[in-house]
Amino acid sequence: MERIFIGVAWPYANGSLHLGTLAGALLPGDIFGRYNRMKGNGVLMVSGSDEHGTPITITAEKEGSEPKKIVDRYHEEHVKNLKELGIKFDNFSRTSNEFHKNVVKNFFLKLYENGYIYPKKINAFFCPKCKRFLPDRYIEGKCPYCGGRARGDQCEECGATLEPTELIDPKCKICGSTPILKETEHLFFKLSAFENDLLKWLEGKKYWRDNVLQFTLNFIKSGLKDRAITRDLEWGVEVPLKGYENKRIYVWFDAVIGYLSASIEWAEKIGKKDEWKKWWIGEAKHYYFLAKDNIPFHTIIWPAMLMGHKDLNLPYDVPANEYLTLSGEQFSKSRGIGIWIPDILKKFEADTIRYYLSINMPEKHDTDWKWNDFVAKINNELVAIYGNYIHRVLTFVYKNFGKIPSGNENEGKEIWNEVAKNIKEIGESIEKCHFKEGMKKIMRIAQIGNQYLNSSKPWALIKDDKKKCGYVMHLCARIVRSLAIVSSPYMPMTSNKIWKMLGYDDNVHEHKWDDALNDIEEVSIEKPFPLFKKIDLADIIEEPFSKLDIRVAKIVEARIHPNADKLYVLDIDVGSLGRRKIVAGLKEWYSIDDLNGRKILLLANLKPASLRGIKSEGMLLAADDGKRAYLLIPNDKPGSKVYIEGLESNPSKKISYDEFRKIKILTKDGKVEYKGKFLKDGKGYIKIDGEVDNGLIIR
Ligand code: MF3
Ligand code: ZN
Repeated sequence: MERIFIGVAWPYANGSLHLGTLAGALLPGDIFGRYNRMKGNGVLMVSGSDEHGTPITITAEKEGSEPKKIVDRYHEEHVKNLKELGIKFDNFSRTSNEFHKNVVKNFFLKLYENGYIYPKKINAFFCPKCKRFLPDRYIEGKCPYCGGRARGDQCEECGATLEPTELIDPKCKICGSTPILKETEHLFFKLSAFENDLLKWLEGKKYWRDNVLQFTLNFIKSGLKDRAITRDLEWGVEVPLKGYENKRIYVWFDAVIGYLSASIEWAEKIGKKDEWKKWWIGEAKHYYFLAKDNIPFHTIIWPAMLMGHKDLNLPYDVPANEYLTLSGEQFSKSRGIGIWIPDILKKFEADTIRYYLSINMPEKHDTDWKWNDFVAKINNELVAIYGNYIHRVLTFVYKNFGKIPSGNENEGKEIWNEVAKNIKEIGESIEKCHFKEGMKKIMRIAQIGNQYLNSSKPWALIKDDKKKCGYVMHLCARIVRSLAIVSSPYMPMTSNKIWKMLGYDDNVHEHKWDDALNDIEEVSIEKPFPLFKKIDLADIIEEPFSKLDIRVAKIVEARIHPNADKLYVLDIDVGSLGRRKIVAGLKEWYSIDDLNGRKILLLANLKPASLRGIKSEGMLLAADDGKRAYLLIPNDKPGSKVYIEGLESNPSKKISYDEFRKIKILTKDGKVEYKGKFLKDGKGYIKIDGEVDNGLIIR
């Protein structure tokens, strides 16, 4: 038995999980974990919600909410979705819990005692208008390496990790002004001290994926700089040293320690306090699953932290994936591009998604999620080959024998040998983290089965030679049984369904991997049902814009929100829909006089939400260019519908803010654009109160 630790990158709790996270980290981690458990290895697999840092505070500010509320909502959603997807962790924790924070503080102090953390005065960006120091993600500019769009911590295009001061033409993300440098003191991690040790450690990593190893070596060879590990923020883990009460530990420093804290927490939860040590101290292989933008944190910074802490296990392999793109664009929570897990789970069975991502996994290069390809792969492979084989075999056996007929070892010997060879190779592929290859071999087995079935013609044999027909069907059923076992890391729900249809009453996941090579017992079987349905492309492409109910409304009275100095409360008249009250964040740009009596656009069917204690019944729509908001100017009377010509309106129910955020309505030539057409009311086009470049309609 080997001990295998599996760390899966912690998704930020600032939005729903998307397919990129599933393809890049969660699914490969889960396939690997499930396989190793079946191999009889000791697996400890952890992850959690990454709940600190500016991704969270920025989302909270945008939504006029609190960081704690945001992370609670998304952590709960993550847990639910992981269950639905069949991703099986030993512990899926969260970084805002006290247990984690304490482990982080102790880790920090250990590094401090070992001399790897020291204070230093630096010049950091300060926004003169916002009157605050700007954390990395609050600064945007051009990347000094590739010239692409970059944040203060990382370039979104080439992936280089950055210090904010390296950015060309930096701007404050909140107000758009140019920040100035001002002196402040931060704590630094002595990353430079680990250059040689890291290089030496990497010498033994020739088996790593080429891109991961090369990226890491280049990163180190370009010179390791000490890194600031505190930030001027209120949301995060407190610094356990005097004099730093106003600062928090940098989110990445806190998050990677989550791998350790979630392991210790797991041991406490199962009531064996020291059990985690079996994975972290002594013999155990540590695997980390993540997408490529997370590579340096897992192959350089986290290993250096572990070296500095001393006596904890270092990563054994970091098989990082490339990106899954959507029509060529990178998935991004912060830019609203992607397919979100809660949405796609409403439409398709989790295993169909798992199948498509396995066969299309971005292992060696980026792969694209294409809807027509998804439909084709499900219908022509999963349904027509895999599902069909199993269904043909089981219905035939059920009808003609009622139970698995007895076999004969001379029947189809070469067929079985080929299947057995594939079974072994699937295991080898998974061990090497070549998951796509493994999935292809599973399909190969189904193909072999189909061909054997076709050439043996059991429907003819049953009349002439029932005994021989039984031999054939025995082997066919044996292949079905093997398929159930070898598919279970990839399609855990489906494989268990097959298992049940074969008449077993235990769980396929409790079986050993090598059991796939065993023969099938002569059990009686259940009435089979088809495993998958064909998908129709037309069912997928539905127009999200149709779900919106946008109306003209008139502000009757605007006043300052009693509990929030950036918000207004507006009493509005929505014609036939009556009077409503909404909360709007316009105070920086519009005065009460600007607003009283003015006509606005209202998203009328947004789920009501309480904003700082006042219930907002809908949302005011405005253009936003990242710097300020601009009201939209309707023409018609209150209550009238606002629409896009040619798109039918179908706002049957209330929609959530997240659903709305995914519908990209833009500004163009002074008008409001969606998919190349313009927003109108009964009397003409909707206009914008100001000149907006690259604006997005939201508020
Ligand atoms: N939340 C990070 C991201 O989505 C990943 C954190 S991985 C961990 O990019 F190692 F820090 F946990
Ligand atoms: Zn500013």
